[in-house]
Amino acid sequence: MKALVYHGPGQRAWESAPDPTILEPTDAIVRIDSSTICGTDLHILKGDVPETTPGTILGHEAVGTVVEIGAAVTTVAPGDRVLVSCITSCGRCRFCKEGHYGLCTGGGGWIFGHLIDGLQAEYARVPFADTSVYKVPEGLSNEQVLFLADILPTAYEVGVLNGRVEPGDTVAVVGAGPIGLAAIMTAKLHTPGRIVAVDLADARLEKALEFGADVVINNGREDAVAKVMELTGGLGADAAIEAVGVPDTFELCTELIRSGGRVANVGVHGKCATLHLEKLWIRDVMITTGLVDTSSTPKLLKLIEGGRLDPTVFATHRFSLSETEEAYDVFGAAAETHALKVVLSAVPVENQNIAVEKELVGV
Ligand SMILES: NC(=O)c1ccc[n+]([C@@H]2O[C@H](COP(=O)([O-])OP(=O)(O)OC[C@H]3O[C@@H](n4cnc5c(N)ncnc54)[C@H](O)[C@@H]3O)[C@@H](O)[C@H]2O)c1
Ligand SMILES: [Zn+2]
Ligand SMILES: [Zn+2]
Repeated sequence: MKALVYHGPGQRAWESAPDPTILEPTDAIVRIDSSTICGTDLHILKGDVPETTPGTILGHEAVGTVVEIGAAVTTVAPGDRVLVSCITSCGRCRFCKEGHYGLCTGGGGWIFGHLIDGLQAEYARVPFADTSVYKVPEGLSNEQVLFLADILPTAYEVGVLNGRVEPGDTVAVVGAGPIGLAAIMTAKLHTPGRIVAVDLADARLEKALEFGADVVINNGREDAVAKVMELTGGLGADAAIEAVGVPDTFELCTELIRSGGRVANVGVHGKCATLHLEKLWIRDVMITTGLVDTSSTPKLLKLIEGGRLDPTVFATHRFSLSETEEAYDVFGAAAETHALKVVLSAVPVENQNIAVEKELVGV
């Protein structure tokens, strides 16, 4: 088969790789029908994730079709279309039993494209298939569910649920990349009073308005704390979601939050941020951190099925799997290409367009 193989910092190639095989009776082999690239893949390529060793196939988000199952797999069968998400669950450890699959100590957690071969490939081995994949309801397209593999549950669980967003709240979302935009989209499920998006890039702030933000602040030009205070009668935001991952934005969240408010950190931090306890200790502020568990995936899937959530708006560019290298170039240059999420499909893009045209003319 072909796959996107990591060859050390700055190096990757779409090349031949051994076909995956069943190694454990709980494994399934999935043919990848649709995959995508995450900002975390770019972190790995920069060399920021040393536990990912050269030779690893990247990718942790896909929709595919089961082609083979191990002897112990009972709930999925060859032919089933499944969502394979960034988190794998052993189903048996203490954390999996509590729904904290991201913390799995039984061999699961974030392993695809990190500790084992990932999903930017023609085929993949999926460990703990029974407890890790989600059957895709008939009638939903691959693209409708693909972004449930990471950004939607991440933003919802680590941002909105940890931030305890309630009806009427003023929610500040700092960072309007795919994660911040997904936080805006899923915060709306809780009917906040107002969503304020903060970013340095005007193009991202325009997207934030399209996704449902009510107020946008370019903190490169404006004083975000002063503006949030003005909007909230001097109190501050009820919940602040950090969706960047740098010290400045974490510290900004702790400044624009009201007393008794919640700061939900989603960003992956590589540097030390300052926690101003000398100012915060008296203000009853709650701060949370987290890796996604994907425990909300079934709920989000139901919302998509019911027409309440439409993540297809994240798809800005489409490629065939064989064009994955080009897709990395486009995704990696988001400031110029305005890419949010790129969709990699097993079906070549030309053929998809032909299929759509045929549908339009009723052939
Ligand atoms: N906790 C988890 O489980 C989890 C899972 C996935 C991703 N993440 C993390 O979430 C974060 C966001 O992911 P993404 O894919 O949206 O990233 P991204 O890089 O695409 O978007 C970040 C946004 O932040 C903006 N930004 C940068 N510096 C800023 C500043 N000083 N002030 C305001 N805005 C600023 C950028 O313009 C950009 O729009 C990353 O750190 C990512 O690694 C966390
Ligand atoms: Zn990811
Ligand atoms: Zn586990």
